[in-house]
Amino acid sequence: MWIIEDDPYGDLRYDGDRQPWTASYEEAADRTVLLGSFSKVMAPGLRLGWLRAPAALRRACAVAKQAADLHTPTLNQLAAARYLDVLDAHVTRVRAAYRERRDAMLAALPGALPEGSVWNRPEGGMFVWVRLPSAYDTTALLPEVVRHDVAYVPGAPFYAGTPDRSTLRLCFVTQTPEEIEEGLRRLARGLGVA
Ligand SMILES: Cc1ncc(COP(=O)(O)O)c(C=O)c1O
Repeated sequence: MWIIEDDPYGDLRYDGDRQPWTASYEEAADRTVLLGSFSKVMAPGLRLGWLRAPAALRRACAVAKQAADLHTPTLNQLAAARYLDVLDAHVTRVRAAYRERRDAMLAALPGALPEGSVWNRPEGGMFVWVRLPSAYDTTALLPEVVRHDVAYVPGAPFYAGTPDRSTLRLCFVTQTPEEIEEGLRRLARGLGVA
């Protein structure tokens, strides 16, 4: 059995301790394939990630990837390799900015959502997850919300089993705190709260 550990967000941590990779446990090291991405911490447009796998599996992974996409552009790889020198400093700056944006979203959410809504307080990553009262169907509501020039991702497609259709995902990393506040005012109007 192989374990696929997909961790594009681990570097984006704002509180608490970083969780150790499953691959870092001796018992799992020889059966875990760890996947990382530069999309969230360097530049999404590079389309570049990385894979750490037991040696026996690496050749098969390379062949499978070549069959799927021929090759990741060498120029992109060289640019990323060059940027690795300053990546840690960049991630430290990004983390501080994202923490501030997360906090701006968490502070403004109570005024933007219908009574009875609940949400998490993420210690890392890019998203806040919300559950509206059960009468709300976030997939059905999205077109009306978009008319107010704001959007969310409905939660239903994220479920492997029966979805909770009142859930939605909000991204807090792209906009400034002021834009987040404006976005949530629009969301409130779209949801009929304001
Ligand atoms: C959980 C998870 N894994 C992997 C990826 C892939 O990232 P990319 O294709 O941008 O490297 C994403 C992107 O959103 C993600 O959310």
